[in-house]
Amino acid sequence: MRQFPAFFLMDDAHVVIFGDGINAERKARLVAKTNASIRLITDTAPDWAAEYRDRLEMFSSDQAENALFGARFAIVALDGDAEAEAAVALAHAQGVPVNAVDRKHLCDFTVPSILDRGDIVAAVATGGAAPVLAKDIRAKLETLLPERIGDLASLAQRWRPAVKAAIEDETRRRHFWESTLRGAVAEAVHAGDDARAEALMAETLEQFSQSDQTPVGAVHIVGAGPGDPELLTLKAFRLIQQADIVFYDKLVSPEILDMVRRDAERVPVGKSKGEHLVPQDGIHELLIAAAREGKRVVRLKGGDPFIFGRGGEEVDALREAGIEADVVPGITSALGCAASARLPLTHRDHAQSVTFVTGHAQKGGVPDLDWPALARPHQTVVVFMGVGTAGIISEKLREAGLPGDTPVAVIENGTRENEKRAFGQIADLSSVIEARGIKGPALLIIGAVASLPREAQTLIIEKALA
Ligand SMILES: C[S@@+](CC[C@H](N)C(=O)[O-])C[C@H]1O[C@@H](n2cnc3c(N)ncnc32)[C@H](O)[C@@H]1O
Repeated sequence: MRQFPAFFLMDDAHVVIFGDGINAERKARLVAKTNASIRLITDTAPDWAAEYRDRLEMFSSDQAENALFGARFAIVALDGDAEAEAAVALAHAQGVPVNAVDRKHLCDFTVPSILDRGDIVAAVATGGAAPVLAKDIRAKLETLLPERIGDLASLAQRWRPAVKAAIEDETRRRHFWESTLRGAVAEAVHAGDDARAEALMAETLEQFSQSDQTPVGAVHIVGAGPGDPELLTLKAFRLIQQADIVFYDKLVSPEILDMVRRDAERVPVGKSKGEHLVPQDGIHELLIAAAREGKRVVRLKGGDPFIFGRGGEEVDALREAGIEADVVPGITSALGCAASARLPLTHRDHAQSVTFVTGHAQKGGVPDLDWPALARPHQTVVVFMGVGTAGIISEKLREAGLPGDTPVAVIENGTRENEKRAFGQIADLSSVIEARGIKGPALLIIGAVASLPREAQTLIIEKALA
């Protein structure tokens, strides 16, 4: 590590800035985010200085020595080399560390790329080797650190004395902070509900101070999307990484499971066609038991939990058991597959509505669907779990009046590396599936829009040949 990261405390501090150009202005803007005052060494009094009137004092260059006395640090943003060197020497003579803008050889410290979330500050430095890279890393961190994480830190700061007084044991105190800052209190702050966060803090503190038992944890029912890990929401990502235990379905992709903390438990409860690893009631019991042990529980489901995902039943069971359950939506496979195949589910010219149905039926049975409604024109029908019943679906739709040449797309493992697509007409649905060796998980997309990806491809090929 060639650089040592440290954070200056800025209360009652002052910073000296040499210069009046754009670099001086940028640094003044940055310093003005702290509580420090600014002493600007300039002989020209630039217009921008007025913006910081309440905390900025101007000094002429012959007063620089006075201004530097006791400064936390100095920034030299001067154009000329000789002036910059003289300013650095002046600061060094007073023992003040210096950053000289664009003159790395004169710097005692560099100014990193900064992510400011109130009390939480993250800084990224590359030692001047690649500032652009530092900015990119900061942008990535920005998406990972929730907007209100600084508010969460301030809340912890406010409660710290009360918590210390109420919970003597250090380990228990750590459990308290883990359960609040990674649990329901944190969720309330992130959701902007400060009143609820305060109430939950008080409630949890009372529970922790009154008994040795750990309060019941929360359960997050989280949509993992169709498979591509980049389609996970930021909230899902955060909760997965915070979880103590993750109960997951078969449809959750391995790349997403890799995001679970290494020390967290992963429990497969998934179902695939005809193979129920854990019955639904059993899943409810597992979720309830884990929450009662005080664990942060994530129930991870493919796609969206409320689209043919039995998420509703899990919410009900948890509520009945008195356990807090929240739901994080995921990108349903219908949207993921359509986007991946560049197939618009609605289209001004072809489909004014889209309907999601399940093709599931008891063995050998017929899906219980409103066939005449699904056979109407100018719409798209997306069938989940319809591979096994594709023959019956094709037959029933045609019986209800859907023309046999209606386009159909079948998409298996949509958004994953092994995605397969097949296109054809509703009359040939079974043979289309068979010819491509599609077994599922797959969606059937029925309607005029299903021919658009192929038409687009033909157009591209025609253009290339022309
Ligand atoms: C029990 S449902 C769950 C649906 C899920 N909740 C959702 O929103 O996508 C399972 C069915 O979803 C569809 N499915 C899920 N992921 C898929 C994917 N990546 N590609 C194609 N179909 C998928 C298949 O029809 C599969 O049989």
